[in-house]
Amino acid sequence: MPQANIIGTGSSIPKRILSNKDLEGFIDTTDEWIIRRTGIKERHIASKGGDENTTDLATKASLNALQMAGISPGSLDMVVVGTVTPDRQFPSTACMVQTALGADNAAAFDISAGCSGFLYALSTVNNAIRSRTCKNALVIGVERLSAILNWRDRSTAVLLGDGAGAVVVAPTTKKEGILSTHLKSDGKLWDLLYSSDGNSDTPKILDTIHIKPFHLKMEGHRLFKRAIECLCSIAGEAFRHNSLKSEDMELVVPHQANIRIIKAMAKNLNIPMKKVYTNLQRYGNTSSASIPIALDEVNRKGLVKKDDHILLVSFGAGLTWGASILRWAL
Ligand code: ACO
Repeated sequence: MPQANIIGTGSSIPKRILSNKDLEGFIDTTDEWIIRRTGIKERHIASKGGDENTTDLATKASLNALQMAGISPGSLDMVVVGTVTPDRQFPSTACMVQTALGADNAAAFDISAGCSGFLYALSTVNNAIRSRTCKNALVIGVERLSAILNWRDRSTAVLLGDGAGAVVVAPTTKKEGILSTHLKSDGKLWDLLYSSDGNSDTPKILDTIHIKPFHLKMEGHRLFKRAIECLCSIAGEAFRHNSLKSEDMELVVPHQANIRIIKAMAKNLNIPMKKVYTNLQRYGNTSSASIPIALDEVNRKGLVKKDDHILLVSFGAGLTWGASILRWAL
């Protein structure tokens, strides 16, 4: 049975930076509160009417990943996108990216799993490659969360940002690449984080179609506690599955939601923070995009070397959570 290996990474970040200081201008918040409670200093916001919608960001990240992988879009068999902020309800963002790239031989579809969207997509592709359903695949995490935020809600508006990350995955005969993926969800906790409007069960969209209809609602405090439990339990499951221990990890790339969540997870797993990559200071929480953007950064900065074990771990709306252990071979 072949294994699946990441052979290229890419990312794309909108140009416009919105700092905590900028937020002070229109939300009742402070730079000091945001840094102390979340670790976030700034985030990038996609421009309106420019070339930074969800499909644009995903396409640019994909082109970077494909260039690194050295394969053409035509040789992709699958394009899978994790997102909760597609440009349209349908067709899928994956189909829009497929056509923008010219990936004419691929099956393309989206996965909605909140901030775990990238790991859900990676797991799907991992299984497709292992079962020989496909060879080369593109896995994308992309969000334009600025479009669905209630910019008057200080409890959510300060947390999130826009961006895209992508990886190209291909088969390998060696025991390297994606060692395993692990997914979990608990729909009973759907109301900890959800979009409150613009859905099929809210027909008033017909009256409000010209007003921004999607608003993200969150119970931050309850989500915070549950997130730490989920991250630790699924990381433990991934370690046990591979007969590895937390000290065998050279690097951890967690979902970038809140530095206090990440530090609590690292402490609980007995992993020193120097092994944990964070970039939420610069991007905030970019949901599905946060892990692939961080992975592209560690790769391009040379922070990983061949055979390093990397733990990817996430949680998000659903609730969903997931983990993957990689043996780096790029
Ligand atoms: N600026 C200033 N004060 C604020 C702000 C703000 N931006 N936001 C909230 N506060 C106030 C609250 O009103 C509250 O005031 P009160 O004590 O007078 O009532 C006080 O700060 C404390 O509020 P809490 O919500 O208890 O603050 P907490 O320490 O829990 O931090 C936070 C809030 C940062 C949202 C935290 O709960 C968190 O990070 N939760 C997890 C969020 C998360 O990860 N979400 C993403 C999930 S992934 C996805 O799928 C998108």
